[in-house]
Amino acid sequence: MAELVIAGGRRLEGEHTVQGAKNSALPVLAATVAARGRCVIRRCPNLSDINATLDILRHLGCGVTRAGDVVSVDAGALSGCLVPEGLMREMRSSIVFLGPLLSALGCAELGSPGGCEIGLRPIDLHLEAMRALGVRIENEGGRLRCQTAPGGLRGARFALSFPSVGATENMMIAAATAKGVTVLTNAAREPEIVDLANFLIACGAKIHGAGEGVIVIEGVERLHGAEHTVIPDRITAATFLCAVVMCGGELLLHGVAPGHMDAMLSVLEQAGARVRRIGKNGLQLRMSGRPRYLPMIRTMPYPGFPTDAQALFMAVSAIADGTSLITETIFENRFRHVGQLQKMGADIRAQGNVAIVNGVPQLQGAAVNACDLRAGAALVIAGLAAQGETRVREIWHIDRGCERFEEDLRALGAKIERTEPERLF
Ligand code: EPZ
Repeated sequence: MAELVIAGGRRLEGEHTVQGAKNSALPVLAATVAARGRCVIRRCPNLSDINATLDILRHLGCGVTRAGDVVSVDAGALSGCLVPEGLMREMRSSIVFLGPLLSALGCAELGSPGGCEIGLRPIDLHLEAMRALGVRIENEGGRLRCQTAPGGLRGARFALSFPSVGATENMMIAAATAKGVTVLTNAAREPEIVDLANFLIACGAKIHGAGEGVIVIEGVERLHGAEHTVIPDRITAATFLCAVVMCGGELLLHGVAPGHMDAMLSVLEQAGARVRRIGKNGLQLRMSGRPRYLPMIRTMPYPGFPTDAQALFMAVSAIADGTSLITETIFENRFRHVGQLQKMGADIRAQGNVAIVNGVPQLQGAAVNACDLRAGAALVIAGLAAQGETRVREIWHIDRGCERFEEDLRALGAKIERTEPERLF
């Protein structure tokens, strides 16, 4: 199995262009199923999760081509509403095919989605939202058979009990072609929701309020094809910023959306980084010396501090001067990196969803496991700052979300190699 081998302790300096957001590209690609006509999606990162999504699209009968980071999808020949078990288990976001299939064909047959093991991750909110639109759902031994009411999807008022990102996405896509108006309350407000809404609007949907707590969707007869450029990935952008904060140095980020990163940038500034926004899409970070302890972090739905950055900031706090307190409120099992950071000499006490991190002056290289995507990225940046050699195993998790990770880190001066050059996708 491929590993990343890192010789730590080098200062980082240079420029990096941020990839397209995985968590935007995935629902946008799934939503192409609901459009009649060709969709062209730009800035699609080259990731195993994206490739799994393209496999599902092909399985459903869509015409799919890819040239670099441009993917084109034509759902004109959509031939089935069944996503096979194996493809469902490839990733969590396979559940976001539910809304598009119900919109396009009035039926969907899906198994349980896979994805990072960071919690139970039920899909009850997705199903409640679809039921509100008049969908009948039968569970046959774990497989879900979903069918719209005669006459198709019907607009409805629906309040989510938690602002789930995926359930908001399914609801927006399905309601876009439902009969009548849908009012979704307590909707997720993540930038990826706004990006999906903008894509759907480009396809002819009438959606108001995406990015706010209440989204109003006036159903239209049909969606047409459209072109769309995916927003920058705020979490991989944060990964590179945290790496420089840990290693010291200077980074110029291009193609970034600083406005999506306020909660994270504020913490980095309080840790001692000098951050400068350059125009709409640039960001410069300078760091010298050891980071200061982090202000209290509590993961929250957007615009709060993102759970996807919690492991990265824990890595930073592990070498910070002083004690940091990190609380994870979104997923119940998202501290699996704690044990791996401890192997590197971190002083972390975790109980339930709270971690107390007493920063140590220096981490030591060790053999560690990338237990999920963001934890894996956090261990890599910890390795870059550590003394000696770090070997990160199970890096297929990292390939799910970080494009050209080690190549781009090397360009900043990091010493990092993959033991097997070939990726599995
Ligand atoms: C999205 O997952 C992201 N994934 C996750 O990123 C991210 O961590 C998460 O949103 C929160 O920001 C994609 O966009 C592909 P949720 P999603 O539904 O949609 C509970 C990464 O590393 N819940 O907002 O699955 C759930 O268990 C990944 O890129 C229910 O109880 O997240 C969790 O505790 C990891 N029932 C909370 O809500 C449901 O039906 C938030 O989940 C749905 C969710």
